[in-house]
Amino acid sequence: MLGIVGAFALADRSAYGRWRDAKLESAPTSVGDLVVEVGDIADPTAAEHGALLDRVRRSNMAVYAGAVSLDRDDKAALKALGRRFGLTGIDANHLADEDGVTPLAVHREGTRARYIPYTERPITWHTDGYYNMPERTVRALLLHCARPAASGGANRLMDHEILYIMLRDEDPELIRALMAPDAMTIPGNDEEGMRRPATVGPVFSVDGQGCLHMRYTARARNVEWSPQAQYAATVLRRVLETPSAYCFEHILQPGQGLLSNNPLHTREPFADDPACPRLLYRARYHDRI
Ligand SMILES: [Fe+2]
Repeated sequence: MLGIVGAFALADRSAYGRWRDAKLESAPTSVGDLVVEVGDIADPTAAEHGALLDRVRRSNMAVYAGAVSLDRDDKAALKALGRRFGLTGIDANHLADEDGVTPLAVHREGTRARYIPYTERPITWHTDGYYNMPERTVRALLLHCARPAASGGANRLMDHEILYIMLRDEDPELIRALMAPDAMTIPGNDEEGMRRPATVGPVFSVDGQGCLHMRYTARARNVEWSPQAQYAATVLRRVLETPSAYCFEHILQPGQGLLSNNPLHTREPFADDPACPRLLYRARYHDRI
């Protein structure tokens, strides 16, 4: 952990204490606190932009509630919104469209049917791109809902900085174990259409701007924990499964979306109506908001 200064340095207990207290005092404690009405997401007003940024600063996420317009290109609007928040480095996987945005819908056959995002099945706690190589770290995640599922399909959401606080307050050694460069190995696999090598890295890391990043999946069969991180991983899992005022659950409605710094999230199972199928657009960025 050499080189880390400020709140995330384990040795600096007073910087941590100040940051922690301020963070908890301003942290949203209900989904309603996250929602911002936006007239046109492709061109938010200064007030709308400021309100969204305020939520992201406080909790690494905001939910915008935009007007539904059937003759609009939702993907172009989503990318325009991203640009307003400084997001330009889009992370396209092989199943993304040409513009780098991935439409998420149920596929009952074909290539996509093999991958969980394209099914009705639940996706447990994770951050996006946990299997990516460091140069493709996903720091921001945008989701836009064109059509929700017939039932279900909520996202549970938790600011990874809050999880960091819960773990550090329990025992700073948990953080030390999760910041080790070999804490979490994701074995090589086939991820949404692309062969990729194994990736080894920490769960928590601090970027050049002093911002906390989290790389995580609770899918046990996708992860090899280092012996030193195994206990911390168990505690982390337990904390995520414990009800908390800082864990939100929300079903994105048509025109709504998530603007975020890739916090912890799930996707709950859902039932799709093939006559009116669920459709979400996902954009992942290497930049942070
Ligand atoms: Fe995700």
